Amino acid sequence: MPTERYAKLEAIAAKAAGISELFKLEPGRMDEFVLREGPLRADFSKQAISAEAKEQLFHLAADCQLEHWRKKFFDGDKINTTEDRAVLHPALRGVGGDKAVQKQVKDMRAKLRGFAEKIRNGGKYKSILHIGIGGSDLGPRLIADALAASTDNPFELRFAENVDGASINDALGGLDPKTTLVIVVSKSFSTQETRMNAESARDWLSDKLGKKAGANFIAVTANRAGAEEFGVASDQIFDFWDWVGGRYSVWSAVGLSLQIAFGSDAFDEFLDGAAAMDKHFRDTPLDQNLPVMMAMTGIWNRNVLGYTSVAVIPYARRLRKLSAFLQQLEMESNGKSKTRDGKDTGLTCPIMWGDEGTNGQHAFFQWLHQGTPGAPVDFVAVLKDHESRPEHHKALLANCFAQSEALMIGKPEYAVREEMSEAGYSDTDMDVLAPQKTFPGNRPSTTITLDELSPSALGHLIALYEHKVFVQGVIWGVNSFDQWGVELGKILAKTILKEIDGEAAEHDPSTEALIGLVKD
Ligand code: F6P
Repeated sequence: MPTERYAKLEAIAAKAAGISELFKLEPGRMDEFVLREGPLRADFSKQAISAEAKEQLFHLAADCQLEHWRKKFFDGDKINTTEDRAVLHPALRGVGGDKAVQKQVKDMRAKLRGFAEKIRNGGKYKSILHIGIGGSDLGPRLIADALAASTDNPFELRFAENVDGASINDALGGLDPKTTLVIVVSKSFSTQETRMNAESARDWLSDKLGKKAGANFIAVTANRAGAEEFGVASDQIFDFWDWVGGRYSVWSAVGLSLQIAFGSDAFDEFLDGAAAMDKHFRDTPLDQNLPVMMAMTGIWNRNVLGYTSVAVIPYARRLRKLSAFLQQLEMESNGKSKTRDGKDTGLTCPIMWGDEGTNGQHAFFQWLHQGTPGAPVDFVAVLKDHESRPEHHKALLANCFAQSEALMIGKPEYAVREEMSEAGYSDTDMDVLAPQKTFPGNRPSTTITLDELSPSALGHLIALYEHKVFVQGVIWGVNSFDQWGVELGKILAKTILKEIDGEAAEHDPSTEALIGLVKD
């Protein structure tokens, strides 16, 4: 950690003006703090960052050799050091990687297009069941919801992820095995939840279709041998590669169910939208660079102002899975406490959380406005109305814009008292009520708008967050592309499962008692 730089940032924060004040002090603020790339505009002006703080944040990025790491990333260097792998998800969109990688991607995209269009136009299938969890689920699920705004899908698209039997039961309910294509997605092909759901789906197909069931069963994986051992025919398997992290994989064959449902042209537009953001990130100077600005804003909020979480509030129902998607993207990537070389880090990834607006306004927004310490908010809004309900849409956007304004301006006690006095309240009542009706304000937010919920805009949005995560990983000095923290629980679950089935093992008294509750 460049401690001198942090000391400078802290000194700037200590004497900082409030956000509203910054608009008066810095007339060029809107030009400085609003950035656009294609259909995506991001307004960082309501962050508590002065022009001076911004400049120091970009010095911090330079201190941490951001440009050097960005080059290594796009060049395909093995920056995932603990797994000895390159990290090349932009190559899936045609950006970065060497000739061999680019050829692999091109061949796979041609193969996927051929298959997807055959299924789409073939008339045999009416439903697609996508089985997978984590990165093999969250991206496809988010994009499936979102694309429904702008793109036709003639299929019933279902998802099963949880090992809870309710997940596969709900997903299979009402489907006909004859007309259902099951697509099992697992990078490792060893994930317990996915294998169990895949077994249940295979049994469901076999019960009705017998030996013909295999034709309706597809696997997408980086472990071809694992899928073959599971019983998937070799020509029913689509590959991806170890240089694609699970949470960065929606752009690969992992997106096959999207490509079938929404069509290859829409899927290509989605990839192209992300590619535009890749090029922006790769080629734009740091202080005009959207993902860098977003990342450094997050560093300021986390490491200088000390916020512990970020709320992501899409004012778009069809983006309601965004915060769940970002929880994996950000917290699995940067939820670390050791640097690449094994030393302790300072504070890293905040908690990501949120829900769709306006629903959240009637739930947790009380805390955002008056709770302690509050949280910076990413508001995400879509300018075009896709629902043919212009009055609803105007109200939705008005709410979104009002919330960021309210968080920033707040309402001081003197203004509350003036209002109450005009309304005829007694001094005693005012003493009791005025503090409750006071809003501290000066609460930071970013507002991201998409011109429309098109495949391209979605590609821009997801790639923006991916690169933000990359930049923050560089600043914190962590490897953003492994996830060792998920392993211990998986191992213990296997032992406990065996014990529930009768095999003895030793545990602490609490765990022992819990196991006793379900043991035969
Ligand atoms: O347990 C975490 C994890 O490994 C994620 O990183 C991954 O996205 C998810 O499980 C699913 O893994 P797979 O695609 O290998 O089934």
